[in-house]
Amino acid sequence: MINKIGFVLIAGLAGSLATGQAALAGDAEAGAKTFRRCAACHSVEEGKRKVGPSLYGVYGRTAGALEGFRYSPAMKAYGGSGAVWGDETLDAFLANPKSVVPKTRMTAPPLKSADDRANVIAYLQSLGGE
Ligand code: HEC
Repeated sequence: MINKIGFVLIAGLAGSLATGQAALAGDAEAGAKTFRRCAACHSVEEGKRKVGPSLYGVYGRTAGALEGFRYSPAMKAYGGSGAVWGDETLDAFLANPKSVVPKTRMTAPPLKSADDRANVIAYLQSLGGE
């Protein structure tokens, strides 16, 4: 019995190593580096806006909903439709902002690598907020 449990544990561990758990779940530390591509326009300090809104607490927040930031009407409408920033919405938006919010004012180039996106999303999630 113990042997069987041991086997299952080892098999499970080997499986998660083989699939590269960090890449699947996103690596916040790596994401902090990827975030340099965003930092010209985004602060992660609460309430500090640049060209773009502060991304503190953006994970779990309704799109276009930070008080005091003047979003494009398109981003407001996206949020108004019920869109909340989570894994899927962020992934799609960062892969191609204009495919999700066609008239967004965010002119950043697409983040083409799925790993970069997963990492930066993990980083944003780690910042806390709501
Ligand atoms: C050239 C400046 C610029 C860069 C670079 C940029 N953004 Fe943005 N971002 C903006 C602007 C401006 C908005 C507001 C868009 C609107 O109102 O349509 C925005 C909006 C957002 C939003 C929605 C925020 C909310 O409160 O709804 C997220 C999420 C976001 N950006 C993430 C990122 C990430 C992650 C990166 C880096 C991969 C990045 N942005 C790079 C300018 C930029």
